[in-house]
Amino acid sequence: MKTLPIIELERLILRPFSLDDTKVVQELAGDIYVAEMTLNIPHPYDDGVAKEWIETHADDFNEGRLLTLAVVHKEDDDVIGAISIGINKKFDHGELAYWIGKKYKNNGYCTEAAKGIVKYAFEELKLNRIFARHLGKNPASGKVMEKIGMRYEGLLRQHAKKWGVYEDLMYYGLLKDEYDSEKI
Ligand SMILES: CC(C)(COP(=O)(O)OP(=O)(O)OC[C@H]1O[C@@H](n2cnc3c(N)ncnc32)[C@H](O)[C@@H]1OP(=O)(O)O)[C@@H](O)C(=O)NCCC(=O)NCCS
Repeated sequence: MKTLPIIELERLILRPFSLDDTKVVQELAGDIYVAEMTLNIPHPYDDGVAKEWIETHADDFNEGRLLTLAVVHKEDDDVIGAISIGINKKFDHGELAYWIGKKYKNNGYCTEAAKGIVKYAFEELKLNRIFARHLGKNPASGKVMEKIGMRYEGLLRQHAKKWGVYEDLMYYGLLKDEYDSEKI
């Protein structure tokens, strides 16, 4: 059984979620600010959803499907968000996804966390490509992708239906060769 990693960064630590985090996850991920820009976060975010979600993380990592980590402040271990890499071993690629609580936005936290998990994905998980996508109406997320060196690859028109509305998705990617030569 592999344990989920702990990744230490400048201001943040990426660590496994624990069941003590359910309340803060419900508070932050349950905010419409996070729900409206993501495709798989339920809204309203009912009691029990965070526990059920956290309980999937160990098996998902062990079975090589998904690495999900809490984004926490180094100083006080406060959970401020979540970050993940969905792993496709057949193709050696991974999908980066994240959310940061509204009260913590625009401090560069997502950028720092994304750099940290992307480094882990290339150097430890040995992936060859990381991709990510965001809703067309969510430029802040695209900014994070650009800031970590990902390249814009294209827009899939009305690719997802969110709350009854067809939404464009914008895709970004970063290859291992680019990561090695650009040292993001
Ligand atoms: C998108 C999100 C993850 C960004 O997290 P964050 O910690 O605020 O990100 P950072 O501070 O590292 O970077 C955000 C960048 O977007 C910019 N930004 C913010 N709002 C913006 C907007 N409306 N248009 C363009 N850029 C915007 C910020 O200025 C910042 O860029 P800068 O450092 O060059 O000034 C966070 O807002 C979030 O969780 N939103 C809700 C859920 C979500 O969108 N998840 C991603 C789904 S793809």
